Amino acid sequence: MPALGYGVFQIPDDETQRAVEAALAVGYRSIDTAAAYQNERAVGKALAVSGIPRDELFVTTKLWVQDQGEEDAKRAFDRSLERLGLDYVDLYLIHQPFGDYYGSWRAMEQLHHSGHARAIGVSNFYPDRLIDLILHNEVTPAINQVETHVFFQRKDYQELMQERGIRIESWGPLAEGRNGFFDNELLTEIGDTHGKSVAQIALRWLVQRGAVVIPKTIRPERMSENLDIFDFILTDDEMAQIATLDTGKSVVIDHNDPKTAQHLGGTRFDT
Ligand SMILES: NC(=O)c1ccc[n+]([C@@H]2O[C@H](COP(=O)([O-])OP(=O)(O)OC[C@H]3O[C@@H](n4cnc5c(N)ncnc54)[C@H](OP(=O)(O)O)[C@@H]3O)[C@@H](O)[C@H]2O)c1
Repeated sequence: MPALGYGVFQIPDDETQRAVEAALAVGYRSIDTAAAYQNERAVGKALAVSGIPRDELFVTTKLWVQDQGEEDAKRAFDRSLERLGLDYVDLYLIHQPFGDYYGSWRAMEQLHHSGHARAIGVSNFYPDRLIDLILHNEVTPAINQVETHVFFQRKDYQELMQERGIRIESWGPLAEGRNGFFDNELLTEIGDTHGKSVAQIALRWLVQRGAVVIPKTIRPERMSENLDIFDFILTDDEMAQIATLDTGKSVVIDHNDPKTAQHLGGTRFDT
């Protein structure tokens, strides 16, 4: 899996094809979508017109809460494949740890064994739910995609995942611009040293600590900027300084909050 991919959350359906085509043109090969983003069909069109061989692409999509359960998950997966115009996905994730995700996981294990989902994983699973899922199933998730960025670093959780052979994938790697992210003094200062932007420093920091990142932008110049993080190295001292920005808390959504279970558990999409 590429260490850096392109995320399409909150890109409207009618803008997604253009955005993904632009991302592929500047060099992205990994695309992160979801049934709930309502733009899988547009992603599929962009992949098709790109002419890039399928085995050079890495496509991730996700199962939404209303489709949890063994049989519903299989049907939802087939619909995602059809919308994407693909005959397999590289990574299929349970989007949220709500509803009958044990049933879904059994379906995903089968999709994995049949090769329709090359890898399977989860998203937004906090430690207790992740460990429980591993203990009571055959296949361990390859990935856990969770909110991770300079303000919510999850170092202990990443270590726990690593011990179990699970890779952390960071959603919101730019903290969605919250908490004054793009004006952060320390990141700006370190960026000046390397001739890099705040976004590039934050992405490099994540990749250097072993996270997969999937920043989202609709602007082609930012797509190139976010990709251009492999020609410099942050020093141990810079890594340690950035570690001090951790607040230990989400800046977007807390999956331990019952209101989140209530809200996301009740949100339905046309999947
Ligand atoms: N599994 C989940 O529950 C979950 C949840 C959230 C996100 N995700 C995935 O993670 C991906 C990324 O997370 P995200 O979209 O929430 O947030 P993000 O990537 O942290 O931040 C995106 C924001 O930063 C801006 N931006 C991007 N690059 C920039 C740059 N170089 N300079 C200045 N501004 C820049 C974008 O604006 P412009 O577009 O205007 O440039 C957008 O407002 C999503 O697209 C999705 O694939 C998954």
